[in-house]
Amino acid sequence: MHIGKKSTVNHNINPKNIRPVFKESQPKLHIETYGCQMNVNDSEVVVAIMQQHGYSVTNSIEEADIILVNTCSIRDNAEQRVWGRLNEFKQQKKKRPNTIVGVIGCMAERLKEQLIEKEKTVDLVVGPDAYRDLPNLVAQVESGQKGINVLLSREETYADISPIRLDATGVSAYISIMRGCNNVCSYCVVPYTRGGERSRDPETIVNEAKVLLDNGYKEVVLLGQNVDSYKWTDSKNSTKSVNFAQLLEMVALLSPRLRVRFATSHPKDMSNGVLYTMAMYDNICNCIHLPVQSGSTRMLDLMNRKYSREDYMERINKIREIIPDCAITTDVIAGFCTETEEDHKQTISLMQEVGYDFAYMFKYSERPNTKAARHMKDDVLDDIKTERLNEIIALQNKLSELSNKKDVGKTFEVLVENHSKRSNDFLSGRTSQNKVVVFPKGKYEIGDYVNVKVTDCTSATLIGESI
Ligand code: SAH
Ligand code: SF4
Ligand code: F3S
Repeated sequence: MHIGKKSTVNHNINPKNIRPVFKESQPKLHIETYGCQMNVNDSEVVVAIMQQHGYSVTNSIEEADIILVNTCSIRDNAEQRVWGRLNEFKQQKKKRPNTIVGVIGCMAERLKEQLIEKEKTVDLVVGPDAYRDLPNLVAQVESGQKGINVLLSREETYADISPIRLDATGVSAYISIMRGCNNVCSYCVVPYTRGGERSRDPETIVNEAKVLLDNGYKEVVLLGQNVDSYKWTDSKNSTKSVNFAQLLEMVALLSPRLRVRFATSHPKDMSNGVLYTMAMYDNICNCIHLPVQSGSTRMLDLMNRKYSREDYMERINKIREIIPDCAITTDVIAGFCTETEEDHKQTISLMQEVGYDFAYMFKYSERPNTKAARHMKDDVLDDIKTERLNEIIALQNKLSELSNKKDVGKTFEVLVENHSKRSNDFLSGRTSQNKVVVFPKGKYEIGDYVNVKVTDCTSATLIGESI
């Protein structure tokens, strides 16, 4: 292995080479990813770092020299899944004792050395801001020690690292535009696992999008916990700065054939400027993910979201006014501390009022050391949480179906991303509004833009024909 021998490392990676290397002779890395899109992109950064240090990627844990699991702490069940997986790696290690097992990402940051203490299989614990140190830490493990680095950084954005793309189809790719979060939503663990907010140099973002475009990609998704607070200031000239609306425009201008999406927007920060920029460029997709969390202002206060129900509805109305065909999606939490039946009813009524096209819906899960865990009681019974969540899910299914039914008879430009899961004779892609459309393959290929007339739908999918 070449680890630690810096002279053998080639730092001049060819920016065109953005797919993983699979080679027999090199030590092999297997990486599994849980959690959000940010983590998916971080795994691609990790592969880039490891590939520079002589590793190739394998899909099989049986032949891996290193197994890394990139983890999520957002809810307790996300962590439980990882513990289960670590137990399976333990079996693997019995067969091949030299296999290195590493936990990286949010759970590594949250639990630190406790992870190694609790699960001896784990050799390596690396937080989200310490991935550059991975090759050194691996060398440390190879010399018989455990490797741990969970330092958070105020600067790290991995701006100079070209992620190695692990997606199968080469159509859509994530680009992280910022890291961390400066909000302290009382229920949320992210500020503790990812540290403070920092924005990435816009030039490196645009370059990354350009390389993707040159490699045949048709869509980029700009990622941040709160993209609306993106702000980059030139360290040499503090009067020179770029905000999110400007960044969006810079990326959109690369090519009208490159779709641009982004997530996540925060209701307290989403500016009209962003909406006007979206309206101005056809290739910026008409879909906004605007997590509401609750329809009750009392709950929103306790959650420390910094907006009221009325503020939120004002933002929704503004979206409808500036981008009439914009899809709006959301996140909802059921059963946060002290939530009453009345609060819950307000969430239901807000969902009806907005008529979301899609939603992610969760039961509140108390996370250690958050504001809520320290100062509030997780006092809504689990059965009640489940009941409320089920009501929310049932309503959203209806709203999604209603939203899809409105699309029947309309024609959309669809970017083809894959074969349909059910049949290779069908293709599957998405509309600008981020809705999945399935249609007969005909002469089309993955990566094509196709005009599709919607003829039918389910609550999850549009069904159509190319025209
Ligand atoms: N930065 C984004 C979301 C990050 S986490 C934002 O501010 O909206 C994704 C979603 O997980 C959140 O929107 C919230 O709905 C949910 N979530 C976060 N912490 C949670 C918790 N402790 N219990 C249940 N759901 C949670
Ligand atoms: Fe968590 Fe709130 Fe930051 Fe989103 S904005 S990551 S919910 S603290
Ligand atoms: Fe999970 Fe960390 Fe993302 S906690 S949701 S992987 S930022």
